[in-house]
Amino acid sequence: MTKTSPFQILQKKGREKIICLTAYSFPITKILDEYCDVILVGDSLGMTIYGLPDTVDVTLEMMINHGKAVMRAAKKSLVVVDLPYGTYEKSPKQALESAQKVISETGCDAIKIEVLRDLVPTVKFLVENKINVMGHVGLLPQHVREIGGYRYQGCDENSANEILETAKLVEEAGAFSLVIEAVPAALATAITHKIKIPTIGIGASAECDGQVLVIDDLLGLNQEFKPRFVTRYENLAAKISAAVARFRADVKSGEFPKKENLLVK
Ligand code: KIV
Repeated sequence: MTKTSPFQILQKKGREKIICLTAYSFPITKILDEYCDVILVGDSLGMTIYGLPDTVDVTLEMMINHGKAVMRAAKKSLVVVDLPYGTYEKSPKQALESAQKVISETGCDAIKIEVLRDLVPTVKFLVENKINVMGHVGLLPQHVREIGGYRYQGCDENSANEILETAKLVEEAGAFSLVIEAVPAALATAITHKIKIPTIGIGASAECDGQVLVIDDLLGLNQEFKPRFVTRYENLAAKISAAVARFRADVKSGEFPKKENLLVK
């Protein structure tokens, strides 16, 4: 099985939709690898794995640990690891040090950063230093405390233009792809048509070159969380609950363990 390269992802634009999902662990990555072009070790793990209220307190160490687990299982998909909040915004040098640490310790193929316009030089600096960069525009979850919640972005002309211009600059800076999160469909479509690198939408537009979802959302692991842009393809929370209830009942009744579960000499 050959590993997908950033160049192969670039080449899919206009030809074939890009499939991207988040993963944080070895067993889930083993399952997803067959179906995905890109596996994102997203800093959404702050919420999905660690129960934090948002991604702001996620550390580089958390990303590296989960990046390592995912890399052990990903044989085909391109693996992208998020640089978490506070590890790349201070200067291009800080971003490069963080990116190099993540790549050397995990072996991942690329990093993703959330890009406001002032971070475009950082994208350029990373690319000049041979780092494969996926940009992220629109709703930037690492800024959720400043913007007062998970709100669609680019809903008025000024902010829509700002996101469009930033997307163009991210392309010029050399990123190989761009996540567009939670913006009006027309804006995501316009960006997709105006830039040559593939766009990967989440709450964006069906016209994006690919789509990404948080795996826990797709599987229905968190019953309290269902934003508009999520389709639950399964209700795993209910299935896990039912399985654990059966185990509990079997232990209480003495049905488990059975003879075949035991070493009887
Ligand atoms: O952290 C994450 O999972 C992400 C995706 C939602 C794009 O950034």
